[in-house]
Amino acid sequence: MAVDFRGHPMFPQGFNSPTRFDADVYDCEVWGQIPTDIHGTFYRMQCDFDYRPPPNEWMTGFNGDGHVSRFRFANGSVDYKGRYVRTARLMAERKARRRLFGVYRNPFTDDPSVAHINRSAANTHIYWHGGKMLVLKEDSLPYTVDPHTLETQGDWNFHGKYTAQTMSAHPKIDPVTGEMIAYGYQAKGILTKDIAVYIIDPQGRVTKEWWLTSPYLGIIHDIAITQKHIIIPVIARTTSLARLKSGQPMWEWDGSLPTMVGILPRDGEAKDVRWFKGPSRNTLHFLNATDRGSTVTMELPTSSGERDPSQIRRWTFDLNSKSDGFQEDVVSTTPGFLPRMDDRHLSLDYRYAFISSRDNQGAPPAPGAGPMSGGTQVVQRLDVRTGKIDECPIAGKVALQESCFVPRANSREEGDGYVMTVVSNFDSMSSDLIITDAQHLDDGVIATVKLPFRLRSGTHTNWYPQSVLPPIKDELS
Ligand SMILES: [Fe+2]
Repeated sequence: MAVDFRGHPMFPQGFNSPTRFDADVYDCEVWGQIPTDIHGTFYRMQCDFDYRPPPNEWMTGFNGDGHVSRFRFANGSVDYKGRYVRTARLMAERKARRRLFGVYRNPFTDDPSVAHINRSAANTHIYWHGGKMLVLKEDSLPYTVDPHTLETQGDWNFHGKYTAQTMSAHPKIDPVTGEMIAYGYQAKGILTKDIAVYIIDPQGRVTKEWWLTSPYLGIIHDIAITQKHIIIPVIARTTSLARLKSGQPMWEWDGSLPTMVGILPRDGEAKDVRWFKGPSRNTLHFLNATDRGSTVTMELPTSSGERDPSQIRRWTFDLNSKSDGFQEDVVSTTPGFLPRMDDRHLSLDYRYAFISSRDNQGAPPAPGAGPMSGGTQVVQRLDVRTGKIDECPIAGKVALQESCFVPRANSREEGDGYVMTVVSNFDSMSSDLIITDAQHLDDGVIATVKLPFRLRSGTHTNWYPQSVLPPIKDELS
């Protein structure tokens, strides 16, 4: 049967309908001047769909086939390349010319023919570390791709030393040591409470491993690190064997569950983890954490319930206290839920978050555009110490995807650089990448890279200067 996406009860229409192609645009059209000190590559992930998902697939934003975009900058020019990750899953479905894998993270809904095929859709995040470009999905091990050609190289288990079955899409790179702190949950198999945490050195070798037990079977989409601790929040989306056997996607919100936060000393053993407990909070991503004497602070976007507006809040954990509670304060009511920072300050004292956000009084979302598309879209810099926001409004009927901070070459000052943001442009049904000055957002957009097609709503992004990437061999490809 030929591919036909029409009539799917939960499937995005309009701007976010499937795009289903690889693409190369050599020397992209640029409006404005790209600063010549921008020399490197902006990577972004999106989910796309080769085949129609099952009718009860509500995780349509997160269970599509992984697709990598790379915007390579040099001397004021940009070359774009977009490639599907050739996962075992995608290739099996292409061979069969139909969807074989079921709903999000539920193997009970798969076609029996794929029982022994890696389920990873490789669609969430992308990191360069240890000489490999890791493409991540939290239910599986990483795939790796060539950082320039984006050719899929295969799956990767860190020389056989990463023994957990899963690795999250949100490892953390310690900017002081260059180590990657990676983890997996449901790490001994689906529905297990095992959490595995790894230190991976700058050469990509596993040097330390912990195995923990989660207080309950909740989602652990992200973690945070300080120089002394690893912070592991367990959030009130839960699952069960009965839920999976009934054919549902894995996660279900349960506001009766607490938020549990494990704090693991980086120089300690698994038995040293301490679990703190708070009211249920709806969140997936964390901004940063910092050691402050005997306390640990962590900033994050979160809301009190499943459908409440997100805010940036601060959690404070007193490691000297005998209480298992923690303090919560509001830093800012800005609703952006994917804040990023100058990653050179990750785990350290820091000041700024960079956020794709919107005003609170805006128009409703454009059809099929997702909940963040309404109102006036703004690129923001939030001072997490004072709550002060500087921002750049983006005109038009647009939605901003995750903003990514790009440090200025040869500058070490926190926040000195640019912000790159992919913009969904609903009037032209195409996508732009905009560049703003991170310290002067009110100057407006410096340059706009124009793509002659649309990119679906993306997941996560990263920037790598050419100085850390391998030499380019595919200059004119
Ligand atoms: Fe994420």
